[in-house]
Amino acid sequence: MQQQDGNHNFNISERLESLRRDREALQWEGSFRDYFELVSQNPRLAQLSHARVNDMVHHAGLEKLNEGARDEITRYNFFASELYGIEEPIARIVEYFKSAAQRLEVRKRILLLMGPVGGGKSTIVTLLKRGLEEWSRTEQGAVFAIKDCHEEPLHLIPHELRAEIEKHYGLYIEGDLCPQCRYALEHTYGGRHEDVKVHRILFSEKERVGIGTFAPSDPKSQDITELTGSIDLSTIGEIGAESDPRAYRFDGELNIANRGVMEFVEMLKVDEKFLYSLLTLSQEQNIKTGRFAMIYADEVILSHTNENEYVSFAGNRKSEALQDRIILVRVPYNLRVSQEEKIYSKLLHQSEALRNVHIAPNTLRVAAMFAVMTRLEEPKRANVDIAKKMRLYDGEDVEGYKSKDVRELKDETIREGMDGISPRYIINRLSGALVRDGVTCINPIDALRAIKDGFEQHTGISSEQRDRYLNLISMARKEYDELAKTEVQRAFVYSFEDMARTMCNNYLDNVESYCNKERIKDPITEEEMDPDEGLMRSIEEQIGISDNAKNTFRQEILIRISSYARKGKAFEYNSHERLKEAIEKKIFADLKDVVKITTSVKTPDPDQLRRINEVVDRLVKDHGYCPVCANELLTYVGTLLSR
Ligand SMILES: Nc1ncnc2c1ncn2[C@@H]1O[C@H](COP(=O)(O)OP(=O)(O)OP(=O)(O)O)[C@@H](O)[C@H]1O
Ligand SMILES: [Mg+2]
Ligand SMILES: [Zn+2]
Ligand SMILES: [Zn+2]
Repeated sequence: MQQQDGNHNFNISERLESLRRDREALQWEGSFRDYFELVSQNPRLAQLSHARVNDMVHHAGLEKLNEGARDEITRYNFFASELYGIEEPIARIVEYFKSAAQRLEVRKRILLLMGPVGGGKSTIVTLLKRGLEEWSRTEQGAVFAIKDCHEEPLHLIPHELRAEIEKHYGLYIEGDLCPQCRYALEHTYGGRHEDVKVHRILFSEKERVGIGTFAPSDPKSQDITELTGSIDLSTIGEIGAESDPRAYRFDGELNIANRGVMEFVEMLKVDEKFLYSLLTLSQEQNIKTGRFAMIYADEVILSHTNENEYVSFAGNRKSEALQDRIILVRVPYNLRVSQEEKIYSKLLHQSEALRNVHIAPNTLRVAAMFAVMTRLEEPKRANVDIAKKMRLYDGEDVEGYKSKDVRELKDETIREGMDGISPRYIINRLSGALVRDGVTCINPIDALRAIKDGFEQHTGISSEQRDRYLNLISMARKEYDELAKTEVQRAFVYSFEDMARTMCNNYLDNVESYCNKERIKDPITEEEMDPDEGLMRSIEEQIGISDNAKNTFRQEILIRISSYARKGKAFEYNSHERLKEAIEKKIFADLKDVVKITTSVKTPDPDQLRRINEVVDRLVKDHGYCPVCANELLTYVGTLLSR
């Protein structure tokens, strides 16, 4: 529990009361006549399921990535807060809804997501389901239905009148009354359509309204009535006839998902007869139930599967008819390191146990580098290795490469992202390492070790894969070594400005004496010396100034100084672009040795110790380290540099 959650003004009665008021505000009940009034003003109320989902997704807005470029992608906000780096498959899913919303043929097909384990398929479906629940609680997303049923009230309108109504009000009406409503119209409302009660419904998977789920279980015990409903054993005795709607429970998952979404988990694992009832539904918007004629239902059918299952399904001639009626969207793993890091942060934040453990900077990044590399296909070009490909894919500037190269790299792949290590695996390994007793912090090396140790236990990894993965672990580690060195160097250069200023003044004093052919006076001993040629050259050489060119450069600096002086401006080390560059480079070069010596001594002298402590403090204060991982970092870099 977070501290700030303990809001002192929390008043339970008030909050419950306001919740009740909110719920009441969502209620609406009236006759069909009233509803017709509403829907003729606002035909959107009667939209079909795909159009509803499409509106919901678009309502949240979108963003164009790489706008105008050939690889422009749309990022839909609806998914973007939960799913990272899989914009392309998501865009394809949204395209499906867009066409289906216009009642094109695709709406009659089942949307099947295919991808590797833990690649986000279920998350996509869950977002749509949860989203629709919320959407039905908004004004734009309001759904109305005949009371005691979920069906569209416009089904009450007899076919004879539909053409006229469509012409007049732009209301498209599809489907007929279900047996129950037909019965009620006759017996409860005395055949008066306009009196039939209509109310607003709120989608809820828990309450089985508008959202259905079906998961395959043991094929032998699986019963089709889970999908299509069954005889009502409590009333059949009294009523007698099975064809009487009062003796039937229209409560299969397909029934309850009417108007909304039906999720079919691992679709290809179920018995064929289940698939056929799905197909009839998607193709004809009809459910065949018991002794009744077909029952109309309008729902989005979403399903997912893995590649192996799909390949054997697709290879089966018997399933050709089914294949035709499926829209397949591949959902490969994310291939961008920065996005992968976001996935881990999201998942770790959800875990209560990890609240008190520190995760050192770069830990998730290095784990992400490894995971992404396992998913990449080996590049075919000689001058690109897998680590470079990884960086290019993440949009990093790699010298000599352009976005065109990235496209070419992508084009040469066959099924990139369809296997490799899943985010779930990484998180499980990290959590395992984090919850061990006494662990207060984990660093990138711990993470790689934990990931590597898991290869042995993981049954899904073949020995061939294991060799490849081990190799990638060392590549990830090499990437980390570079990161670690830069990190330490950066921390040493905290007082960079001061250092640069001192070095600059020193240089300028010498240049002045040199140009004026004077000797230079030591400020303390007052001793006269020649200008320090070695010092000046060591700075000038950093930017490639030759011995022949040094005089011109020094003169140029003096001219700049006097021009500054005339304007009453102070000349700083960064007042001259090339001088600035030379000084920065010199500091870095000097530091290399200091860093090396300071971090790798076994028994530091007091001065070195002070330096180390300063750097540790800086890492902790400014760079997100804790004392444990800051010290570990210094030791690590020390061993790297003293090799
Ligand atoms: N690209 C991604 N962005 C954000 N989170 C992701 C991404 N890919 C996977 N995840 C997270 O990883 C976890 C596993 O994903 P999910 O269960 O959706 O995968 P799946 O494809 O359904 O896997 P399975 O085939 O095992 O059912 C989830 O918590 C999900 O949020
Ligand atoms: Mg899943
Ligand atoms: Zn009905
Ligand atoms: Zn730490």
